[in-house]
Amino acid sequence: MNHPAMQGLNLNTPGYVRNARLIAWVADMAALCKPDNVYWCDGSDAEYQRLCQQLVDAGTFKKLSEAKRPNSFLASSDPSDVARVEDRTYICSADKENAGPTNNWMAPADMRSTLQPLFDGCMKGRTMYVVPFSMGPLGSHIAHIGIELTDSAYVAVNQKIMTRMGKAVFDVLGVDGAFVPCVHTVGAPLAEGQKDVSWPCNKTKYIVHYPETREIWSYGSGYGGNALLGKKCFALRIASNMGRDQGWLAEHMLILGVTNPQGKKYHVAAAFPSACGKTNFSMLVPPSGFDGWKVTTIGDDIAWIKPHADGRMYAINPEAGYFGVAPGTNFHTNPNCMASLDKNVIFTNVALTDDGDVWWEGMEKDGGSLPTHLIDWQGKDWTPQIAKETGAKAAHPNARFTVAAVNNPALDPEWDNPDGVAIDAFIFGGRRSTTVPLVTEARSWMEGVYMAATMGSETTAAAVGQMGVVRRDPFAMLPFCGYNMSDYFQHWLDMEHKVESLGHTLPKIFCVNWFRKDETGKFVWPGYGENMRVLKWMIDRLDNQAKGRETIFGVAPQYAEINWTGLDFSAQQFNTVTSIDKAAWTEELKLHAELFKQLEHHLPKELGETKAAIERRLAA
Ligand code: GTP
Ligand code: SPV
Ligand code: MN
Repeated sequence: MNHPAMQGLNLNTPGYVRNARLIAWVADMAALCKPDNVYWCDGSDAEYQRLCQQLVDAGTFKKLSEAKRPNSFLASSDPSDVARVEDRTYICSADKENAGPTNNWMAPADMRSTLQPLFDGCMKGRTMYVVPFSMGPLGSHIAHIGIELTDSAYVAVNQKIMTRMGKAVFDVLGVDGAFVPCVHTVGAPLAEGQKDVSWPCNKTKYIVHYPETREIWSYGSGYGGNALLGKKCFALRIASNMGRDQGWLAEHMLILGVTNPQGKKYHVAAAFPSACGKTNFSMLVPPSGFDGWKVTTIGDDIAWIKPHADGRMYAINPEAGYFGVAPGTNFHTNPNCMASLDKNVIFTNVALTDDGDVWWEGMEKDGGSLPTHLIDWQGKDWTPQIAKETGAKAAHPNARFTVAAVNNPALDPEWDNPDGVAIDAFIFGGRRSTTVPLVTEARSWMEGVYMAATMGSETTAAAVGQMGVVRRDPFAMLPFCGYNMSDYFQHWLDMEHKVESLGHTLPKIFCVNWFRKDETGKFVWPGYGENMRVLKWMIDRLDNQAKGRETIFGVAPQYAEINWTGLDFSAQQFNTVTSIDKAAWTEELKLHAELFKQLEHHLPKELGETKAAIERRLAA
């Protein structure tokens, strides 16, 4: 029998682990992956420090200056392993139809036989870390447990920050509790005596989900959402399947609280595609003209949302940390984020300064000038001169920081309330240089679902592939919806009846675009903190304080309805970001039609009817 115990491998199972299914699974996976050691993470600070030191010794981490950036580290990935790999990501449902046309699919049995030889012996020469984590507050009714087996210490320390990770998870799991099994390997076994590299990975990559059995198998990458399996794989792709079966929503959304000067608090959840401003918006600092207003962060990337018996939709952030985009972040664009990053941070793929600190593009706006010398994310010398001549970036455009939510000075006191916060409004927003106006409000739940479903956005560095091309990204969930997209639209439509039958008005739905450009290619809308002006108009709409004006695509603000105190933004400029060009919208609707053609199977017919209504308004 090919059992590790019989090969002399000690599974090191701690006495406090009593879950039979877990113990058997770890034994099976150890037998398959054949690590040299098995180590069960306890989640303690001492363990974190020990693993970080081990990563420093292995050359994966550089310790940053204790004076400049206490207890912080810089990791530089292999240049081929810098972002999510959407073309290597699979939803292996029993039926192809259930994965739908927007997901890669392979029959589960075929995928299992593809992965079997890859995982066989994949951890040789390495340690298998058993990483227990909870998505959502530990033990709460809304949380779900995952166990990630990984041969990457980098993943283990990131999971300590990103999730509630540690041995308390085993108490919740008990003898027969359920967990989502997540297996991760960098796919780089070491032969006897072979020297390791600082960022092991494999050219071959597979990010695989089996929705029926709620399993995740990840091969070949050590980066972000490919490897930190609690995040996109579990909290979105697997959780969207749980939500579909159980009547809730798993969404690619930030959650924020906004409190007016009278102390009234509202909660907003907003879906923007990857690298399109969620972290920024969730930490917004109100600009001048908004004295007494306060924005607080509940989450910056993922929301689990459940309709409650009181007829309201309650959202929690299943994560415990932020894995956020570094480039572009500075004291002007996101001061709360900069303050969050002052200590206890893991940076990946940013540049190293000569005095042992970090740097990325955008920071020159704070210092007033570029640094004279850096080590770039690939370990090469960087100077302003080199950058000018070669266009070399000091930080990779998808460089990220990993930091605990509790580092955020704007953290909402309710951020880990297991009951979540009641959502007043949903916002959907893509990155569009043209066509889509600054903000409109859907006239109905149906119209809001239409806006979200047809959302387009220019691609970013968050995923491997061409940048800046407009693609449809329904609900900002294109890479993250773990089942048929049309069924997902129907699930959203079903919420209307479900919530209204409980006797409460539904959250309002808004559509935004911070990214319209002028003919010189510059953003017209100042964005960042100034987005508060749009948020305030939304709140006025919730409170029936703004009349707005009808457009073909929802209700838009009148110029005079926005608070412009402290900002020089003319009616003419406002028109540039809010105008609706008929020719552009005729083209846009053709793209909606293409999407609906692709999603034809199970597409709710109401979406077609809503499109026809927009076309009628456009023609009028
Ligand atoms: P993921 O973590 O990939 O899901 O991304 P995210 O949606 O949290 O994106 P994030 O807030 O990190 O923003 C990514 C990029 O968008 C950064 O380079 C920001 O500077 C830029 N950005 C954010 N908000 C705005 C805005 O209001 N206007 C403009 N022009 N850029 C923005
Ligand atoms: C995204 O791409 O939307 C992210 C980063 O939030 S990652 O965790 O790498 O998916
Ligand atoms: Mn994201």
